[in-house]
Amino acid sequence: PRIFIPDDSGAVALGADKVAKAIEKELKERGIEAKIVRNGSRGAYFLEPMVEVACDAGRVAYGPVKVSDVKGLFDSGFLKGSHHKRWLGDPAKIPFLAKQTRLTFARCGIIDPLSLDAYERHSGLKGLRKAIAMQPADIVKQVTDSGLRGRGGAGFPTGIKWKTVLDTAADQKYIVCNADEGDSATFADRMIMEGDPFVLIEGMAIAGIATGATKGYIYIRSEYPHAVAKMNRAVEIARKAGVLGVKVLGSAHAFDMEVRVGAGAYVCGEETSLLNSLEGKRGVVRAKPPLPAIQGLFGKPTVINNVISLASVPIVMDKGAEYYRDFGMGRSRGTIPIQIAGNVKHGGLFETAFGLTLGEIVDDIGGGTASGRPVKAVQVGGPLGAYFPRGLFDTPFDYEEFAKRDGLIGHAGITVFDDSADMLKMARFAMEFCAVESCGKCTPCRVGAVRGTETIDRIAAGIEPEKNLTLVTDLCNTMKFGSLCALGGFTPYPVMSALTHFPEDFKPAPVRAAAE
Ligand code: NAI
Ligand code: SF4
Repeated sequence: PRIFIPDDSGAVALGADKVAKAIEKELKERGIEAKIVRNGSRGAYFLEPMVEVACDAGRVAYGPVKVSDVKGLFDSGFLKGSHHKRWLGDPAKIPFLAKQTRLTFARCGIIDPLSLDAYERHSGLKGLRKAIAMQPADIVKQVTDSGLRGRGGAGFPTGIKWKTVLDTAADQKYIVCNADEGDSATFADRMIMEGDPFVLIEGMAIAGIATGATKGYIYIRSEYPHAVAKMNRAVEIARKAGVLGVKVLGSAHAFDMEVRVGAGAYVCGEETSLLNSLEGKRGVVRAKPPLPAIQGLFGKPTVINNVISLASVPIVMDKGAEYYRDFGMGRSRGTIPIQIAGNVKHGGLFETAFGLTLGEIVDDIGGGTASGRPVKAVQVGGPLGAYFPRGLFDTPFDYEEFAKRDGLIGHAGITVFDDSADMLKMARFAMEFCAVESCGKCTPCRVGAVRGTETIDRIAAGIEPEKNLTLVTDLCNTMKFGSLCALGGFTPYPVMSALTHFPEDFKPAPVRAAAE
């Protein structure tokens, strides 16, 4: 039998390595021959470490497995898929997984992430092979027609970005993958890099062929050492197998790539500071225009896409634009990996077509709070996303629907808070976060965030609350419209949503105490 134990860093943080060691020891002691495969995670983190056995009954899952469970698992015959208190049965039927539509994450948690054979057996490289046989403009058209939009947060149409690069003549062009996944509650990029790295490599190679770029860089945040190691190994394997190199899969196209590691600045997830960082400079935001698509890395036309945007391209090329476009709603086509985190019962990654309501995601899929207390607010879109109260839980997961309600889906991370959350503190946190992470280039953000933090402190202390609330609102307007990039420009979203939807939390302390 084969035993699958994730080495995804989320699972490892929950004890997967220790469980793997205990299983290895037990196999040795019992003289059983079995192969341990360290796969990625399927993303149901509330069940990690989730161990799966491939036996006559197919794949059978057990979780969350503790080291202290291991002996008992062997005693009860788990290698044959027998019942045990951790038995979950067929992983594909676990409700959290069964309800998903897995296009981008189809292989994640299923195959050995570093086996190119397994990747190909599970439809890998089909998209790249089709792309090789096509004209660059037709590849770009197919990506445009699929409706795929930038999954990093801004939702800009991927095909249109590629077209700008394709149409810009240059002696050298680049593909840069933004893997500086800095938003709170987000882990989709990390999960795919650790669980199915070849899909990202394939997506980048297709982007290269489509736009005439021969060199790619994956910029990974330093907080992701497992992803860095996995991507480096995968690039080496792909190069050796001829997927990367001067003749991609034996074709006339050249494409190669390398991994670069960031140094821990949130703002380096912003595309122009990422480019500066890649060039070895300080991670300061550049003014746009020029767009990176025209003058990007080392001044050359550059496609900068998020990990998930690029990892979604192989399936678009393999199954066609229409197949992908048929999922979703409005102008949000295809699927989106929603990452559910915070104070929630069923935290994890849930890939689904756009259109589920926020309430369905939080209550039905997330199962409500882990604390069992009522949900007070959810922050969607990372630290720069708005706080939505229950009253807005009918909002469908869609770029435009969220924008209509002064929110954003961003990189699709959702952080759940129960009724013990103090929204004034959360608004203060947003300003403080911006002050700490600001690159310092423009005044509304650099100075505004510091003054904003101080002003919220005054409100908390009951000092001229009315006047200071007006000041914060005014300041948010200046930051929103006067900042050079999304860091300063989006900080008003958490602040103003907290103020608008939870005004009672902004009353001076004595008034709040009396009300309670
Ligand atoms: P943006 O709206 O300025 O740009 C979107 C993208 O489209 C950029 O890559 C831009 O260069 C490109 N673009 C625009 N017009 C183009 C054209 N004609 N041709 C080719 N390319 C074109 O947004 P920005 O500043 O890149 O991103 C902001 C978003 O980032 C926010 O919505 C936020 O949710 C998200 N974000 C994501 C984080 C993460 O960890 N993934 C962290 C922080 C923010
Ligand atoms: Fe830098 Fe903030 Fe201005 Fe962005 S908004 S350019 S992070 S100072």
